[in-house]
Amino acid sequence: MKAIRTVLAATTALCAATAANATDLEVTHWWTSGGEAAAVAEFAKAFDATGNKWVDGAIAGSGGTARPIMISRITGGDPMGATQFNHGRQAEELVEAGLMRDLTDIAKAENWAEVVRPSSLLDSCTLDGRIYCVPVNIHSQQWLWLNNSVFEKAGIPVPSNWDEFAAAAPKLEEAGIVPLAMGQQPWQTTLAFQVLMVALAGPDAYTKVFGDKDTGLAGGPEITKVFQAAATARDMAKNSNVQNWNDATNMVITGKAAGQIMGDWAQGEFQVANQVAGKDYTCLPGLGVNEVIMTGGDAFYFPRVDDAAITEAQGVLAKVMLSPETQVAFNLKKGSLPVRGDVDLNAANDCMKKGLDILAKGNIIQTPDQLMSADSVSLVNDLFVEFFNTPDMSAEDAQARFVSIIEEAD
Ligand code: GAL
Repeated sequence: MKAIRTVLAATTALCAATAANATDLEVTHWWTSGGEAAAVAEFAKAFDATGNKWVDGAIAGSGGTARPIMISRITGGDPMGATQFNHGRQAEELVEAGLMRDLTDIAKAENWAEVVRPSSLLDSCTLDGRIYCVPVNIHSQQWLWLNNSVFEKAGIPVPSNWDEFAAAAPKLEEAGIVPLAMGQQPWQTTLAFQVLMVALAGPDAYTKVFGDKDTGLAGGPEITKVFQAAATARDMAKNSNVQNWNDATNMVITGKAAGQIMGDWAQGEFQVANQVAGKDYTCLPGLGVNEVIMTGGDAFYFPRVDDAAITEAQGVLAKVMLSPETQVAFNLKKGSLPVRGDVDLNAANDCMKKGLDILAKGNIIQTPDQLMSADSVSLVNDLFVEFFNTPDMSAEDAQARFVSIIEEAD
């Protein structure tokens, strides 16, 4: 009898202790597609296993819709516990305003400077030597996704690069297939343009234009070629009438469309559809021309709150997100690459293995979000959503407007 009472007392104490440390933490993000939801559930599972509670604050409509909502909550005094941003300068003003938590002590204690690779990811979280975010993955935008069976049906080999894909467009259209699937959100059209630029003008030219704001290059013949290719892409996507990126990916998965230029988060959708890389679909890094990895992706920031329990729970989540097990579980479902170089990714599929190879070779470039301010990026987005939706806007006119944006960009 005495023994039973002891055990009961111990269990009650543990529950009390765990309950005492159990904190609900609201985490906002824009991961709402099938693959994204499956991936973020890995973070929630790992955090809940600490005795705390992940309160999911998903916001639909991708980052362009979610970020203004997140920013206005933080500046409006209604902060969440943690929130997603992309690697780069999107949260710069919030950090400068002193609204975001300094994670430097945790980063030191957890040795992030040693484990996070490439180190530029942690640099994107650093302001005046202090660390303000946890990088959780590497997403590259530099991919072309192709449905293999669609090409078989049209009697043409699966393309191995952009030029072959563009040349296949007339035959695909004859077969009633949309050559290029593209969603109508502005960031998707810019993504297609800058992926074409990296592939056709080269990674250096891209970095000079978006990074060094080189207007001479932006207005020059190399970039003229890119605008002409963008006009071809516009024509290939003219019958793609979907909004969200994952709806465009679904057109490729279901064979309504032959291909999509999209970041490797598209992988999550192929996985949820049980499609196998190399067998059902083909992935071409750098459009099969310039195989580079863009170190884009996601990081989590933690608004400063005057609440000890929330602050404690924020620290727990920051550590959980970078633990080796969570990094593998999350990234395999997300289709991104882990930010830790010391994890075993044998379970990675063919496309992720291609990405890891390119990363290991060091063929990496930064994203527009890392090279430009958020305001300049949105001006570029506005130009390209207009270009892709205005068939009679000439490549020359678009290039001239692009040059003036680069001139003013910071
Ligand atoms: C990106 C984000 C990815 C992906 C994508 C589409 O900004 O880095 O993780 O989910 O948006 O929503």
